Amino acid sequence: MLIRSRDKTEPKSFEITPETGYWSRRDWLRAVGLMGAGLATLKSVPAMALEQGVTWQAMMKTKLANSSKWPSSTSETPTPYKDVVTYNNFYEFGTGKNDPVNNSEGFKVDPWRVKVEGEVAKPGHYTLEDILRPHTFEDRVYRFRCVEAWSMVVPWVGFPLADLIKRFEPTSKAKYVRFETLVDPDRFPAQKFGRSTIPWPYVEGLRMDEALHPLTLMVTGVYGKALLPQSGAPLRLMVPWKYGFKSIKSIVKIQFVEKAPRSTWQQLAAQEYGFYANVNPEVDHPRWSQKRERRLPNSIWDPNWIPTQKFNGYEEQVGPLYAGMNLKTHY
Ligand code: MTE
Repeated sequence: MLIRSRDKTEPKSFEITPETGYWSRRDWLRAVGLMGAGLATLKSVPAMALEQGVTWQAMMKTKLANSSKWPSSTSETPTPYKDVVTYNNFYEFGTGKNDPVNNSEGFKVDPWRVKVEGEVAKPGHYTLEDILRPHTFEDRVYRFRCVEAWSMVVPWVGFPLADLIKRFEPTSKAKYVRFETLVDPDRFPAQKFGRSTIPWPYVEGLRMDEALHPLTLMVTGVYGKALLPQSGAPLRLMVPWKYGFKSIKSIVKIQFVEKAPRSTWQQLAAQEYGFYANVNPEVDHPRWSQKRERRLPNSIWDPNWIPTQKFNGYEEQVGPLYAGMNLKTHY
């Protein structure tokens, strides 16, 4: 991104333990009926989840244990858990790749509210329990491509953003959705006066049809576990055909608006980071090529370059959203 320094603390390939057994272990547990304490618990989930008075922590635990496997996941090897939670971009904790894991110890999710406002019939301050209650979680393995030309394959857990949006009943004037991350210097050290690198809050936005697309996920977990602070706890977006900076973390505001919101990276360098930010090997970043990407884990001896795919390999599903659009000008 705009502020870059070489990360000397990047984990070395020999330090990385792949969680290769992850899917097979879960599948096996499911098969023998042990996952989420078996069928009895599974059947009682909807009723339990709807109950008032269940804490979000309890809700999260039950929903994670009973998540369903999305049938369209990529079969590419997932990036090891260790890399997913130690190699991060989360400027609220600092600009280094290891700053989020190193500076987020003790981060408390409580209290957490999501303010919903703008062109909706049901605005309000929603608790995390309100947000999570009716949704069933899905395990989805997506390719994840950062604008900086590194990529991962991540087993996310979450639910379609469309299902959440529909609950708020957007009006016909709602053409875009704008998201904000929490501003709290007590919880995010880089937001403290004198240490700020970017204007807060971190802001992102999607066109309404992008937000409602079935691939767009409201993420609550990774590798079957609740999101850690460095990954954007308790709620973050995942838009797999767009560069990673669109996937805003630790969301506290969802606004329904008529005009395209100006994202943080547009505010900082509009000529480098556009609103659409669709992964596209045919449109280079002004300072580097987007034709290839370093698939993590990698090392300086084995950078593991692979070709970048248009829309990050999701062209069949999302190409029609951009029919007739000049992707060079709408980058
Ligand atoms: N969200 C907030 N609030 N702050 C950030 O700095 N970084 C973005 C995105 N979401 C960022 C954010 C960028 S640049 C990327 S590549 C992804 O988060 C990184 O997600 P990861 O750390 O889970 O890999």
